[in-house]
Amino acid sequence: MVQIVFVLILAYLLGSIPSGLIIGKVFYKTDIREHGSGNLGGTNTFRTLGVKAGIAVTLADILKGTLAASLPVIFGLDDINPLLPGVFAVIGHTYPIFAGFRGGKAVATSGGVLLFCAPLMFLIIFLVFFASLYLTKYVSLSSMLAGICAVIYAAIDGDVPLLIAVTLLASFVIYRHRANIKRIMNKTEPKIKWL
Ligand code: G3P
Repeated sequence: MVQIVFVLILAYLLGSIPSGLIIGKVFYKTDIREHGSGNLGGTNTFRTLGVKAGIAVTLADILKGTLAASLPVIFGLDDINPLLPGVFAVIGHTYPIFAGFRGGKAVATSGGVLLFCAPLMFLIIFLVFFASLYLTKYVSLSSMLAGICAVIYAAIDGDVPLLIAVTLLASFVIYRHRANIKRIMNKTEPKIKWL
């Protein structure tokens, strides 16, 4: 029990590392939460600080999820499903203790968790994300669509723990995109220009 609590706290703390804030402040003297959508994530970093910083933050956010999900393996705790610390890392990323609980929208870190726990699903939703991005030019809509596809995939696959975890993560992603949904409906959501 103590070990489970330790792993979950560690996963939350790992998820709480505010990659966007660190890269923004250290290299650009900028808090990206004061620019663009105000989100502490890869998309807003691309928008505010450019491609290099955007890629770095996105990869760091993915890595947090992957690393958190691999904690049970690292500590040899085979009875802990890696999805559990993965979900805690996503909560940390979204409500980071190291950044005043103002974090991201759960997309990249959830992706990192799935990369470790369900690589084939990750590949499929990655393709869905980019196909949607190519067609719609909305990162937010494509992120939510990828989340919904993950739920459908897990339901078809019949893996119950995976289905519970991705339903939680996808609901969380959609909840965090409330403002984006309003903007999409008002036609004020910014579209990407590079694809
Ligand atoms: O991953 C977040 C993305 O889906 C939307 O970000 O900054 O456009 O709200 P943003």
